[in-house]
Amino acid sequence: MQQKIIILDFGSQTTQLIGRRIRELNTFCEILPYNKFPHEDPSVIGVILSGSPYSVYDPEAFKVDLSKIRGRLPILGICYGAQYMSYTNGGKVEPAGSREYGRANLSTFDQSNPLFKNFTPNSQVWMSHGDTITALPQGWKTIASTETVTNAAYQSDTEKIWGVQFHPEVFHSVQGTQLLKNFVVDICGSRQDWSSASFVETTVREIRQQVGNDRVILGLSGGVDSSVCAVLLNKAIGDHLTCIFVDHGMLRKNEFRDVMHDYECLGLNVIGVDASDKFLGDLAGITDPEQKRKIIGRDFIEVFNAEARKITDAKWLAQGTIYPDRIESLNITGKVIKSHHNVGGLPKEMQLGLCEPLKWLFKDEVRRVGRQLGMPDHLITRHPFPGPGLAVRILGDITREKIRILQDADDVYIRALRDYKVTLNGKEVSLYDQVWQASTVLLSSVRSVGVMGDERTYEHPVALRAVTSTDAMTADWAHLPYDFMAKVSNDIINKVKGVNRVCYDISSKPPATIEWE
Ligand code: XMP
Repeated sequence: MQQKIIILDFGSQTTQLIGRRIRELNTFCEILPYNKFPHEDPSVIGVILSGSPYSVYDPEAFKVDLSKIRGRLPILGICYGAQYMSYTNGGKVEPAGSREYGRANLSTFDQSNPLFKNFTPNSQVWMSHGDTITALPQGWKTIASTETVTNAAYQSDTEKIWGVQFHPEVFHSVQGTQLLKNFVVDICGSRQDWSSASFVETTVREIRQQVGNDRVILGLSGGVDSSVCAVLLNKAIGDHLTCIFVDHGMLRKNEFRDVMHDYECLGLNVIGVDASDKFLGDLAGITDPEQKRKIIGRDFIEVFNAEARKITDAKWLAQGTIYPDRIESLNITGKVIKSHHNVGGLPKEMQLGLCEPLKWLFKDEVRRVGRQLGMPDHLITRHPFPGPGLAVRILGDITREKIRILQDADDVYIRALRDYKVTLNGKEVSLYDQVWQASTVLLSSVRSVGVMGDERTYEHPVALRAVTSTDAMTADWAHLPYDFMAKVSNDIINKVKGVNRVCYDISSKPPATIEWE
């Protein structure tokens, strides 16, 4: 049986990160809302309680009854999780004199405690809290302190309960992964047998069990998630899988042709649909970003469903949904900023079942699975690309000419990123692989004056964007080398008719977003 750790989410921004760290320890884990513990699941080997934006004594703070878990499974509370367990067992939690945020060092710790196995003196940890545990429940003991926080970590003497005030999951807690390993492996007994090879093997078996000899349809987007999903399904059920790839006319330059070719080389059974006339017709004159997104989402479902209906014996719809997509939709405090669109809305009369084999994976795990399946690197390392495509990168209304200009400028930029190599830890990597995502934006409602040869020009600027990120929830602008930027700017202005100025976007997310619309 696949062992798992359950992370109960009390709304902290770093809950996902806890999940990633546990997965890096080759241990499967699930993040669930704080009050949704799967009591009937025998494969759970330990529980982690996350941090929270609330104080334990806030009336609206998330509360949960842990009595059925305690004594049965080891529990580790992080920040709010630690405070909550202490507070609800008779300990004291009080506002700290000032918010403690940033680096601290564990000036003392109990070397014999299994949670601190292999820890070195003065280990740096990351604090982020407004409250502090000033007294522990009776029978619980302090196992680590910093200069200002006495109860930086504790353990119950009688139960397998630990709490840490700091955040072991963040990069700045230098031995944080060691601490999580001590908990997950030594205390909970993880066999550390969760790997991409074991994932492929188990998932192929599960897909066969789920869909049997039925036909499955899948919407491909050219992106990593749907492509890996298709190859995995192809391995499981071969030509019982039919893929549909819709061209809405706003993909990157030659992308439809190139990606179709890749899919054919991978042996996938793909139907390519050129629906660009319909999309561009419906978008004519539309400038509002949300309206654009809604129209594209609606048209996409229409086109996809029309194709899907032709496959009359289909019983399942497969989707490349990945774990963060689902966690975001489970998010207990989240708000919608942009209406994202992916394949959605099943044709009801087809009564298709849903098959989502990647739904437990983080993005980097999807990539590892892709490699495990032997997919070519350029497909696996592709940057994320939004469902509405270049529509959200052309500010203002969309025309075929504007798409042409943007595709040409973007093509110069992306090729240059792939060609420019930097040395990282002794290894040569391209700038493309160093950034999370790069894009070009056409400011089509702006024109400015320039001069080319002896001629005056009066044309559009493009903005280049490149960001570093781990999950697209937050992002920073990439510090691209000046010589690279100088060359790209020159190349774009010289080669792309319609552009006479190039800018670089230096906004981080938040407060900006990655896409401009
Ligand atoms: P934002 O602009 O919200 O983007 O910071 C975060 C990430 O999501 C991608 N994105 C989308 N992906 N459908 C998608 O599948 C969409 O409608 C969509 N809109 C934005 C964006 O490219 C970035 O990676």
